[in-house]
Amino acid sequence: MNILITGCAGFIGSSFALKLLNSENKHNIVGIDNLNNFYSRKLKNKRLLRLKNYKNFKFYKIDLLERKKLDTLFKKRKFEIIFNFAAQAGVRYVSSHPEKFIESNFYGFHNLLEVSKKYPILKFFYASSSSVYGDKNNFPVSEEVKLYPKNIYGLSKKMNEEYVNLNYREKTKYIGLRFFTVFGQWGRPDMLILKFLDHAKKNKTFFVNNSGNHWRDFTYIDDVVEILEKLMNKKFKKFEIYNICSNRPIHIKELLKYLMKKTNFEKIKNKKHNKIEAFKTHGQNKKILKKINFNKFSDFYNSVDKTIGWYDQYNYLI
Ligand SMILES: NC(=O)c1ccc[n+]([C@@H]2O[C@H](COP(=O)([O-])OP(=O)(O)OC[C@H]3O[C@@H](n4cnc5c(N)ncnc54)[C@H](O)[C@@H]3O)[C@@H](O)[C@H]2O)c1
Repeated sequence: MNILITGCAGFIGSSFALKLLNSENKHNIVGIDNLNNFYSRKLKNKRLLRLKNYKNFKFYKIDLLERKKLDTLFKKRKFEIIFNFAAQAGVRYVSSHPEKFIESNFYGFHNLLEVSKKYPILKFFYASSSSVYGDKNNFPVSEEVKLYPKNIYGLSKKMNEEYVNLNYREKTKYIGLRFFTVFGQWGRPDMLILKFLDHAKKNKTFFVNNSGNHWRDFTYIDDVVEILEKLMNKKFKKFEIYNICSNRPIHIKELLKYLMKKTNFEKIKNKKHNKIEAFKTHGQNKKILKKINFNKFSDFYNSVDKTIGWYDQYNYLI
């Protein structure tokens, strides 16, 4: 298969590309990324280096906003499947850089969709997010409930889901993937676990939003990439949406206690609840588990330990 992975220097994109490159099927993978400086470029470049060892991988530094370059790329390579992971992520970035979300997640998404429509793409997978749900009272949250995003990030993902319904190519299937707090080795330094480890190493006070009284449905990267690989080969209806989550909400206070014990670091300060963040995420994963044959999610604390092990080795990249 000829596969395009956007955001392939990012956490999920690079991990998934590596999974495919190591699989028995010799897919041709093209990765694009704008290598922005939302977090460490060193880390992004190192993730890319892992991919560049493979002959069936090719990287192009392209921004989703560069329509002409996208056009040329699509003309040259006959993509059959697209995975769009490129986006401005990070809910906490919303207040300081709202325009980044408009640029990449609204306009960039539109560009990719427009260009891809001219070519016989079979499946167009795109990253959505648990942020589309906003605050809910009933858990686990299924894909069918109404969406009330609390910030422009969640809104951009909701827009992506609705936009494919309005702007599509007849023969392409569009599959939205609502990821829930993905973590693990080669992860994002702006997210809780790696951020805490980095503060501990640098002996910098760690500020805890909402005093840690919130919940996140943490999903381990190894599980995510396995799910994605299995999903890729399935048949789909025209438009589908899946929660990608472990259905296992973790109380942040409990996770922090574990991390403090592991690092012997206790310099934390509580902060008020940030109104743009959901209080709890907890997704139902019946739909995805029915679609693919996936046995068991990884043990949470064992996966946290692996993440700590990775940080110990690679913290110079952050
Ligand atoms: N990690 C999570 O927990 C999580 C949860 C929900 C949704 N998501 C979504 O999954 C996708 C991947 O997330 P991630 O954690 O790997 O994030 P990431 O920031 O590590 O990866 C995104 C990559 O896209 C690139 N990029 C951003 N804007 C671009 C543009 N305009 N053109 C080209 N490249 C661009 C970045 O340089 C980055 O390497 C994103 O769409 C994100 O919103 C992630």
